[in-house]
Amino acid sequence: MKSTKIISLTVIIALLGSMLPTVRAIAPPPPKRFAQRQANIERRIDTLLARMTVEEKLGQLQQLDGDVDGSFRAEHPDLVRRGLLGSFLNVRGAKRVNELQRIAMTESRLKIPVLFGYDVIHGYRTIFPVPLGEASSWSPVDAERSAQIAAREASAAGVRWTFAPMVDIARDPRWGRIVEGAGEDPYFGSVMARARVRGFQGADYSDPTRVVACAKHFVAYGAAEAGRDYNTTDMSETTLREIYLPPFKAAVDAGVGTFMSAFNDLNGVPTSANPFTLTEVLRNEWKFDGLVVSDYESVKELMNHNLAADEREAARAAINAGVDIEMVSRLFNKHGAQLLRENKVSMGTLDEAVRRVLRIKFRLGLFDNPYVDESREAKEIMSAEHLRAAREVAARSLVLLKNERETLPLTKNLRSIAITGPLADDQKNLTGSWNADALNKTEGIVSVLAGIRAKTGAETKINYAKGCEITGDDTSGFAEAVRAAQNSDVAIVVVGESAEMSGEAASRSSLDLPGRQLDLIKAVQATGKPTVVVLMNGRPLTINWIAENSPAILETWFAGTEAGNAIADVLFGDVNPGGKLPVTFPRSVGQIPLYYNHKNTGRPPDAKNKYTSKYLDVDVTPLFPFGHGLSYTQFSLTNLQLSAQRIRPDGRIIASVEVENTGRRAGDEVVQLYIRDVAASVTRPVRELKGFERITLRPGEWRRVSFTLTPESLGFYDRQMRFRVEPGAFKVIVGTSSVGGLEAGFEVIQR
Ligand code: NOJ
Repeated sequence: MKSTKIISLTVIIALLGSMLPTVRAIAPPPPKRFAQRQANIERRIDTLLARMTVEEKLGQLQQLDGDVDGSFRAEHPDLVRRGLLGSFLNVRGAKRVNELQRIAMTESRLKIPVLFGYDVIHGYRTIFPVPLGEASSWSPVDAERSAQIAAREASAAGVRWTFAPMVDIARDPRWGRIVEGAGEDPYFGSVMARARVRGFQGADYSDPTRVVACAKHFVAYGAAEAGRDYNTTDMSETTLREIYLPPFKAAVDAGVGTFMSAFNDLNGVPTSANPFTLTEVLRNEWKFDGLVVSDYESVKELMNHNLAADEREAARAAINAGVDIEMVSRLFNKHGAQLLRENKVSMGTLDEAVRRVLRIKFRLGLFDNPYVDESREAKEIMSAEHLRAAREVAARSLVLLKNERETLPLTKNLRSIAITGPLADDQKNLTGSWNADALNKTEGIVSVLAGIRAKTGAETKINYAKGCEITGDDTSGFAEAVRAAQNSDVAIVVVGESAEMSGEAASRSSLDLPGRQLDLIKAVQATGKPTVVVLMNGRPLTINWIAENSPAILETWFAGTEAGNAIADVLFGDVNPGGKLPVTFPRSVGQIPLYYNHKNTGRPPDAKNKYTSKYLDVDVTPLFPFGHGLSYTQFSLTNLQLSAQRIRPDGRIIASVEVENTGRRAGDEVVQLYIRDVAASVTRPVRELKGFERITLRPGEWRRVSFTLTPESLGFYDRQMRFRVEPGAFKVIVGTSSVGGLEAGFEVIQR
């Protein structure tokens, strides 16, 4: 009986194979043709390198900035003509790009194409949810789909390089850039990193509808002390290897073409001049052969870091550590020749950097196909298909944090709905902190008010009143909002942060709702009308009063161009929400950093015992845990089975569980598998995510979901920094968030 079950499980695994993100092999093996092409590329690079002057070599390492509207600057054409400028950021638009490219391909001595890069983070003109929001879908398929569409639109405008995905792990919601990543967990972040790289690059980024991706910011940028952007990071090598490096490694395994070195220093060495991370780990251990671009002027900033006394030293430190392209500052260019003469940088180092840049240009097919088809822009950007995808992905990214007394979904034939809050009729904040070519544009962006109007019929009266602004103290609009609620069957209050309160240089010391928004919610709820709180924000917020007192809360992050339609789809039950939090919501800033995969300590929290690890003034638990999210239906998990009781350190084990939709609607559940290493030579987290799958079930339908645990899932870095699986007991916990779940155990035995 047992063995037939195991066989059938193995068959299920084999059948589901590539559909399951958690069991998918890390990267498909490169085809033979790929290897031949690479050899050919290296030969072409050799020929070029032999012909290049030092100035032309340094030119390939220079990246300059255009203007926010996508245009280039007066000096740029001539620099391209002279071979002194290898790549751009922000310059875009098919015509402009072709104009510069024509100069490179017809008027420069060596006819090396220029490369156009841009921050296409969650969409180019059709904007998808901010990355943290999209990660809340717990759906790598959706992440891949949105990145692919972003690549198609960007490439139609001549952009062939995106500075994404941002794969920084973030455990501190004060840090505004938490919005740009996939949250707090290294396993989850790795799955999302792979999906996003695949989405941007496809199997082969010489495809003119693809872009080369950039894993950033290498590395540990998310660990900025006190959550203050650009701040110092300091950590053990174990934490670096187990928490911050894995998504970068996953990006390498997925074939990412480029990396960006970060702004921060790490254990005393700035990451844009850090030979350990840029060369030892990235090149020597991981065998990455693509290029590294510095972050914006981070080479020049080596002087601010007090690592370099002058520009020359800064250039030398960065290039020798492994930075290939210098973004915006021009120190390689200015001082490179002299550094060579003084033997402070070797010709071998310079050639290697140039080789990496040329390699990516060849892999993009730019030498053979340098121009963009100018007819694509009009056809592809914001196409109906892209907008449909944006709506679907946005709806799948929403997280139902709370839903008492079935407040949601709303019925469509309500007589009246009050809609209030500063973000209810807003378009400009919906696209979040990186909005690429949608910057300052509102055409086509669907507000919540517009989405709800489109969803409801003429018989439903919409009573809209803004109530208040996001910030400030003005409560003069409350009375109208309260009247609107009094005159309506239900009230929807749309509140949160403005888009610019998260993202770069947008750290906050308070995680409360800004301004008087909480008071607005209280005033509306005091009418006694059922009230739904719709949140828009780029980070976890401390929303304790709402969590306790509001009957329904929908977390929507910044959901992009189609936000309003997607939110209406969920509010009215056309889409059953299935998103989950990729990050912990704390109760208080004082708890930070607060993350689910913490250590147990010698004195784990125990309410009955004073001398345990907790606070006097706040509960030690999160407000909403990692992995949390509700649905309009219910699911039950039963019958957790393991394929073995004992395995060897190099063995695998399959865990499976039955999931049933026990409610009345079709819906999605994200089944999450965690492990706990019960005793080990170094302390291990209380639980670690090692698998997840988002599944859809009809009412009454059930399915057995399986996960394979491999040595990669069970291992850790020991005291000698060796990654290994230690013998001993392990727990497997399968549930629907990082709290609770079904448990089983197995043992790893000595070989
Ligand atoms: C600085 C940011 O840190 C980085 O994420 C971005 O890609 C560059 N600027 C280019 O805009």
